[in-house]
Amino acid sequence: MDVDRPVLVVGATGKTGRAVCTALVAAGAPVRAAVRAGREPAAPTGTTPVVVDLATGQGLTAALEGARAAYHLAPNMHPDEVGIAERMATAAVDVGLERLVFHSVLHPDDARMPHHLRKAEAEAVLREALGQPLTVLRPAAYHQNLVAQALSGMLAVPYSLDAPSTNVDLADVAEVAADALLGAHAGLTLDLAGPEALSTRLLAAQAAAVLGREVGDRRMSVQE
Ligand SMILES: NC(=O)c1ccc[n+]([C@@H]2O[C@H](COP(=O)([O-])OP(=O)(O)OC[C@H]3O[C@@H](n4cnc5c(N)ncnc54)[C@H](OP(=O)(O)O)[C@@H]3O)[C@@H](O)[C@H]2O)c1
Repeated sequence: MDVDRPVLVVGATGKTGRAVCTALVAAGAPVRAAVRAGREPAAPTGTTPVVVDLATGQGLTAALEGARAAYHLAPNMHPDEVGIAERMATAAVDVGLERLVFHSVLHPDDARMPHHLRKAEAEAVLREALGQPLTVLRPAAYHQNLVAQALSGMLAVPYSLDAPSTNVDLADVAEVAADALLGAHAGLTLDLAGPEALSTRLLAAQAAAVLGREVGDRRMSVQE
């Protein structure tokens, strides 16, 4: 019976939500795709769109009603990430949601990245509000973030070109998310990182080798 109940995915038309929906549909799960009003046609293939406004919380309770689980995330760099988490927590408690999985970030407590701290606070808000243990995924930066730049011939990042990072494939993150939503990893907090620590310089060199043409690297200012 339980498997017939849908899984709600927040931000379903975005980069992450779309990947999570795709993984869930591939696993055979019915998926409710939370989208903004008017964005129903952009819902991922195989999902049922449901209109939600994260800014006000409108539609959230109805979207969660009858769902077996929900994947929560905030739009990228959203200044009100904590408020969005509060609205999700309230709606989840209202409907007695059994399983919530939160898409956080690797190193949410690192104050050198102020937007990460909003994720740490959102995690705390959700943990505090829910009656059941929260499952949290903390992914590193996605491998996919730099692909378009690599294809255009220049990697430009707002941090040291020698700083190593453990970029992760978004499809792998989505697979773990789907597993968590469908029953695995309950109550765990999982760091999700790629297998290698590579600097931007090394990534540019690898991209050049694979593409067979020059790929440069450049440190850009945060304001750019
Ligand atoms: N990129 C990375 O490397 C990385 C790594 C780890 C964690 N993360 C985190 O992953 C999360 C998702 O990032 P993303 O790049 O997937 O985001 P995104 O592509 O910007 O997608 C955001 C989604 O939220 C929707 N949305 C925006 N405002 C809304 C509102 N008021 N009501 C309802 N829906 C709304 C967007 O709808 P529309 O399509 O209509 O705009 C879209 O579906 C972020 O919190 C980010 O910090 C990212």
